[in-house]
Amino acid sequence: MAEKKKFQAIKGTRDLLPPETELWNRVEQTAREVFGTFGFGEIRPPIFEPTELFARAVGGETDIVSKEMYSFEDRPGGLPDPANVPPEDYTAAVEHAMKTGQIPNNEYSLEILKFQLGNLAARNQLPDQAERAYLIWRYAATSLTLGESLGLRPEATASVCRAYIEHGMHAWPQPVKLYYTGPMFRRERPQKGRYRQFYQIGAEVLEMVPPNQDPAKNIGKDAAVDAEVIEMVMAFFARLGLEGVKLEINSIGDRECRPKYVELLRAELMKVKDKLGPDSQRRIETNPLRVLDSKVESEQGIIAGLPKIADHLCANCAGQYAEVKRQLGMRGVAYAENWRLVRGLDYYMRTTFEITARGLGSQNAVCGGGRYDGLVELLGGPPTKGIGFAIGEDRLILSLQEAGKGGVAQGRDVFVAWMGEKAQATAIAAAQKLRAAGFRVELPPVEQKFGKALGQADKLGARYALILGDDEIATGQWTVKTLADGSQAKMSEAEFLEMLRKSL
Ligand code: HAM
Repeated sequence: MAEKKKFQAIKGTRDLLPPETELWNRVEQTAREVFGTFGFGEIRPPIFEPTELFARAVGGETDIVSKEMYSFEDRPGGLPDPANVPPEDYTAAVEHAMKTGQIPNNEYSLEILKFQLGNLAARNQLPDQAERAYLIWRYAATSLTLGESLGLRPEATASVCRAYIEHGMHAWPQPVKLYYTGPMFRRERPQKGRYRQFYQIGAEVLEMVPPNQDPAKNIGKDAAVDAEVIEMVMAFFARLGLEGVKLEINSIGDRECRPKYVELLRAELMKVKDKLGPDSQRRIETNPLRVLDSKVESEQGIIAGLPKIADHLCANCAGQYAEVKRQLGMRGVAYAENWRLVRGLDYYMRTTFEITARGLGSQNAVCGGGRYDGLVELLGGPPTKGIGFAIGEDRLILSLQEAGKGGVAQGRDVFVAWMGEKAQATAIAAAQKLRAAGFRVELPPVEQKFGKALGQADKLGARYALILGDDEIATGQWTVKTLADGSQAKMSEAEFLEMLRKSL
């Protein structure tokens, strides 16, 4: 007998079950409606892409890419099995596949194969070593990385930009406004509100920059786009009744002013290096901006005294930031400025923002976003502006539930309690009609004594029990029991439908 194995969802992943999934659907439906009113259309990019896309877009040095990505080697297609062909032929096949672009060009792997081939030829001269040498060659051949590295997406902005380029969306009416919903994957330490498979609802606005456009001329327009995107998320949260919503904004400058600020920050941090923890010490070298993100208690006083980016923005960035704030004001969107908001992805410039909500503990960021002009270009497309955000749907749901806003319509509208063969035919017909009219109906597959049937109707949270027995069939007068108060009434099928329509 096969050994019994208990399978469980992998750590950091979970099953979303009814009735909670009703709430997930309601949230996603509301997003579709609200985003639709702002002119957004849905994009559904694939869940895996070349690892390099994320490394390029999000940044190879970021935690998300360097520590948290789920990546795997795609099986290289079109190559012979090394066990079935002579080693020289296999090596030649690999070289050919690399040259013709069937598999990624990987000189290192090819070099190892050729080296082992030489090794094999040398050892073949010694009769007692030939077999061993062949096995070593085969081990090398089968364990080399020859396929493309693919990654489960840790976020979707990179995919949306890739799609913008791939489908020539710069030729669509600009700006292109897209939204998405779906799972993302990051190998983080699981805790409340933090999962390894989590769900985002995100939106992006992309707009090709016309040739010779003066960047200073469009500061007002960009700021209005930023403010409208933020206004849209806030409208969505308001529609859901999310509580304790706080919006924080910042500007992190651009290619012009940020490098100078980063150097200044690095110099200041070097002066206090000894007082910082190991993570921040390391970041002085790799990414000084991320030191501002530190939650380490003993570093807070030091960070408070560091130079603030707002004082070092170039004229264009400062002008744009001021205009974003004015635009948010015009739209009635309340915000707080947080100069330490730098975000953990490399593609941002100028506007960044984060939204927190109540009831989430330490993982309280329910939405993050910002502007990323230049990202499409970095991925090989035309000069393009971009701004967007992603909402952590798991956290959004959690916050709604904690505030008692997670209520979903449970149970059934009608439980059909039937007894007798004739009654079954009527019960099936009744269930068909009721379902076609949109009501949720439970029809037991076998007849049950009425007492038992009513007990089950109660357990399922049904509103009404439709009782169909010999009497009801003979007279055409159905018995309808209201389960909340136990009252009972006789009525025709048409009257029952009418009553349901009015009461539900
Ligand atoms: P992000 O800040 O990395 O930004 O993620 C956005 C939101 O996803 C977070 O605020 C959080 O609510 C949720 N989230 C992130 N990681 C987890 C996790 N492990 N478990 C549960 N929820 C999580 C981005 O992903 C950018 N692509 C946003 C963006 C779009 N920027 C411009 N356009």
